[in-house]
Amino acid sequence: MKFRIAPSLLSADFARLGDEVRSVVAAGADLIHFDVMDNHYVPNLTIGPLVCEAIRPHSSVPIDVHLMVKPVDRIVPDFAKAGAGIISFHPEASDHVDRTIALIRDHGCKAGLVFNPATPLHYLDYTLDKIDLVLLMSVNPGFGGQKFIPSVLPKVREVRRRVDAAAQAGGRAVWIEVDGGVKVENIAEIAAAGADTFVAGSAIFGAGDYAKTIAEMRARLAAL
Ligand code: DX5
Ligand code: ZN
Repeated sequence: MKFRIAPSLLSADFARLGDEVRSVVAAGADLIHFDVMDNHYVPNLTIGPLVCEAIRPHSSVPIDVHLMVKPVDRIVPDFAKAGAGIISFHPEASDHVDRTIALIRDHGCKAGLVFNPATPLHYLDYTLDKIDLVLLMSVNPGFGGQKFIPSVLPKVREVRRRVDAAAQAGGRAVWIEVDGGVKVENIAEIAAAGADTFVAGSAIFGAGDYAKTIAEMRARLAAL
């Protein structure tokens, strides 16, 4: 299986964001995870399309936009124009989930659905054939540096089962991404549960040597 590492800019130095993006891409990042918070859907406020557009020239890898905003649809075209490769949203934050998925795809981006730790998986029932990514939160969204919630592991296993069953029935390849509290020490366990894409903010940007941390993560994944 191909594993992807997606450093979260939330823990980067915002005063030097372009440099941080270039450094972490050079260090081996597969995606740049871009956390958008609105102080409404989540109790924090971060960055928007202008910042996405500003970092785009500094990144040779896709920008993985994680929208923690409500409403969702108004801002989707802005992120597509700002160079997002993937746009994921929380289904509770959209009144019309199918429409929002279509909007993202019509703007040329991959679409993802995000599940909070207590959000049930039924939102996948009529969407799995239309999305590219399932993003499972392993913390409650809003802040970096929180502790991994282990009850997400059986949920990852269940999503892996559904994604594989759909693929075997001729469906599309859907990535399974885990976000929150991912570190060198627990990445193998999360991969063993079925995840293939790993967001890590504080674990990468909090350590001085980004390349060393990403290499350690890959070594743990290779040893599976
Ligand atoms: C939390 C964000 C995460 C966050 C992860 O709401 O969605 O992407 O940056 O940070 P760490 O890896 O520090 O838990
Ligand atoms: Zn995120």
